[in-house]
Amino acid sequence: MEIESANCKYRVSECADIDQLSVDYPVKCDQEIDGLETLVQELHRVFSKSHVNIQEVQKLMSAYKSDPKQWRKFAKFDRFRYTRNLVDAGNGAFNIMILCWGAGHASAIHDHADSHCFMKLLSGSLDEVRYEWPNNIQPEVIKKLKTKSNRHASTEDEITENFTNLDISGENDRCQNGCQNQQCSCQNGDQEDCGYDAQSMKEIGRTRLEVNDVCYINDAQGLHRMENPSHVDGAVSLHLYCPPFDSCRVFDSRTGKSNEVKVTFWSMYGKKIKRVIEADPADSQE
Ligand code: SIN
Repeated sequence: MEIESANCKYRVSECADIDQLSVDYPVKCDQEIDGLETLVQELHRVFSKSHVNIQEVQKLMSAYKSDPKQWRKFAKFDRFRYTRNLVDAGNGAFNIMILCWGAGHASAIHDHADSHCFMKLLSGSLDEVRYEWPNNIQPEVIKKLKTKSNRHASTEDEITENFTNLDISGENDRCQNGCQNQQCSCQNGDQEDCGYDAQSMKEIGRTRLEVNDVCYINDAQGLHRMENPSHVDGAVSLHLYCPPFDSCRVFDSRTGKSNEVKVTFWSMYGKKIKRVIEADPADSQE
């Protein structure tokens, strides 16, 4: 019997059933989907329903076996950094993209903007490194889970048992102004102004993904970054985000400080995006 798991049509914090997230990691599957186009069609079919199980998406992504002939036209590399190449915009319910990682390329530590993130390795290998959220920041989903747990759990032990990766005990919520910083004496809740207690971020897991492995993360499970461990070979991965997002937070591993950044595409539907560089009036010589 199919195990029900959280409905990834919704943002993670809006999933009534996110605590039913029972997924193996990384998922492997023997069933086969023949071709990337078929995978995308299958995803459209699944996402046209009102309830989409996380496991259903993972299984579809696992069932597709990577064939470079099918994704090569989307795989556009850059010399300096990894690229994001849109394959399909999923009717607004999801987007699916191919990321190309040159030797040694890596992403910054980031959150997933309250969306679900599925990832499959198409070529090479990638290391996924997971981190705890810094103490001073709580994602929407943890705020929701905390409220829910406070309502339902009778002891603090019960609460922390459910969500071991994150500090949701409330012990660090000293600031009444929203910044949740232990040492804070600020008046406005802005971490810039509040004597921010910089702490290096805590690594909580590291997994090597090989071709056809699939993994899944959302903000309740922590933060992550990806890294191509090879100094010689590139790597290619397939990412599905639902709902799609166009900005997320990146974190400095040494201090835990975060910044909101826009995420952009290097190419869309196989065509490289033309970048217009606007002149900054401040740079003018006159
Ligand atoms: C990643 O998971 O590291 C890639 C993030 C992205 O979508 O750019």
